[in-house]
Amino acid sequence: MAAKLIKGAEVAAQIRAELKAEVDELKAKHNLPPGLVTILVGENPASVSYVTAKQKTSHELGFYSIQDNQPEDIREERLLALIDKYNQDPQIHGILVQLPLPKHIDSQKVLYAIDPNKDVDAFHPVNVGRILIGNYAFLPCTPAGCQELIVRAYGDPKGKEVVVVGRSNIVGKPMVAIMLQKRAGANATVTCVHTGTPKDKIIEHCRRADILIVAAGVPKYIQGDWVREGACVIDVGVNRIGISEKTGKAILCGDVDFDAVSERASYITPVPGGVGPMTITMLMKNSVMAAKVAAGLVKI
Ligand code: GUN
Repeated sequence: MAAKLIKGAEVAAQIRAELKAEVDELKAKHNLPPGLVTILVGENPASVSYVTAKQKTSHELGFYSIQDNQPEDIREERLLALIDKYNQDPQIHGILVQLPLPKHIDSQKVLYAIDPNKDVDAFHPVNVGRILIGNYAFLPCTPAGCQELIVRAYGDPKGKEVVVVGRSNIVGKPMVAIMLQKRAGANATVTCVHTGTPKDKIIEHCRRADILIVAAGVPKYIQGDWVREGACVIDVGVNRIGISEKTGKAILCGDVDFDAVSERASYITPVPGGVGPMTITMLMKNSVMAAKVAAGLVKI
């Protein structure tokens, strides 16, 4: 079987069009432009490029959007005071502090200082708990993007065997929690394999998966014969494996051996162009939701 490509960029464009219509309506009916602040500490080139892309998208959607750049040597108290200022600002509905932060700052303290109702990354423990309980307004952006891709390309995962490879706080664990929920777009039987799982067991579990979601952080980890015929494979990995002589740009690959796995899967996300484009889109979705929560249009 030659797998169908799940084109994240196309799905992301579709969701952004839906969001734009929603933002237009929020502005027209409720005078409620979603307000998003992205806080960048220092000038890490990857972080600059992520934050620039987030700002660009939020402007395109018609948000009230602020880019707050702070120096690398900002004191922790000053950053916490800044977060408090945005927590109190009624025009700001979403606060994102770009990670990683410089070593002299306690990232956990900073993330925990964000008002949970403005925590559009969904990294605050209150939101992590809400997600597990199933009483949530927003989800962490990358696993939420994976869920959207699965539902829109493959269909409802209800009753399917979902295997998640990796247990990070940002992808693996919330992915498990999302797929477990008793609601549309989830309700699956979920297994999580990780660095504590013996390799032969990892392979055994992967071979059972109707839907295999991989966030292992190891280039081309998942082999062709680990994948069940007809499975849906979501590859969250982004690994730099060299520099192209032609373009001078990084050569990327995922955590899945794409060529071999696409011989057996029915659906597969490419790297790049699969999960990646969904992440910012889900941040925008969370920001729209945060505005609706703040205005009392949605209750959590
Ligand atoms: N750095 C890399 N990915 C992310 C993300 O999803 N959120 C934040 N805040 N920082 C990041």
